[in-house]
Amino acid sequence: MRPRALWERYMDCYDYLAGVESYAAGLREVATAVKPFPGQRVLDAGSGTGNLSLLLKAQGARITSCDFSVSALRHHRRKDPKAELIRVSLEERLPFKDASFDAICCTSVLFALSKAGCELAVREFLRVLQPGGRLIVTVAAPEKRNGRLLANHLRSLFRQGNGFARAWRLLPQLPSLLRVLYYNRCLQQLPDWQGYHRFSEEELRTLLFRAGFTELKVKRIYAGSFFQVTCAKLVGNARSVHVKLPVLSSAVRTSLIGSQTAIAGTL
Ligand SMILES: C[S@@+](CC[C@H](N)C(=O)[O-])C[C@H]1O[C@@H](n2cnc3c(N)ncnc32)[C@H](O)[C@@H]1O
Repeated sequence: MRPRALWERYMDCYDYLAGVESYAAGLREVATAVKPFPGQRVLDAGSGTGNLSLLLKAQGARITSCDFSVSALRHHRRKDPKAELIRVSLEERLPFKDASFDAICCTSVLFALSKAGCELAVREFLRVLQPGGRLIVTVAAPEKRNGRLLANHLRSLFRQGNGFARAWRLLPQLPSLLRVLYYNRCLQQLPDWQGYHRFSEEELRTLLFRAGFTELKVKRIYAGSFFQVTCAKLVGNARSVHVKLPVLSSAVRTSLIGSQTAIAGTL
């Protein structure tokens, strides 16, 4: 199945994840990193069925959500009839003016793009972000932890209620759970950079530095199978340069990164 068709079908059962604690906790963490405030302009890029957009909106932010999937946007619209939704591929120039947003979130999307599309997407994020604005990204890391994530989810389901109540509650959810597992498996089997790419931490840092982002903070989420990165657009006329660095201690790298010129190191 081609990636676009896969996403269209996946989005029809995607909201099963809203009841999965690790997914919900991941979105809450991203929302915390955005630090939403009333009137803050936030772009949710690759917004899916709108779960993160709704969370941020509930905290007062003004959300623009975009995705290329018709079914994702349809589900989002059903949950929020007033949502500002735009159908666009992140592999194209974004239909927004420079500095339109105070923050951008792009959760679980960049790994699905082509290499060139991914590079264009982060350059576009920089362009449409206000200087000083923050970008929060989550992407697949090299380690697969599907088994552990599923075990955590099943354990949390079985902790709730007695045996009969559990079975009764689980039964109707089973087809959606199986569909989610199936589509995840299909995605993970797509060729590298043609639907699914696992980023190394260094590669992710380089991608964002090269585009011009700075103040990178990287951490692991989803049992270590994903990275979450928070970074910022520099204020003023500072610019980002990419240089080949010798092996430097992380302390030296951190102090370089904190300076007005972002230095992307390839070690
Ligand atoms: C795993 S879902 C994540 C949805 C949402 N960000 C979340 O965290 O719940 C990935 C989303 O990326 C969208 N997507 C994949 N490739 C895209 C592209 N080239 N342009 C725009 N959206 C894309 C899919 O349609 C899907 O909605």
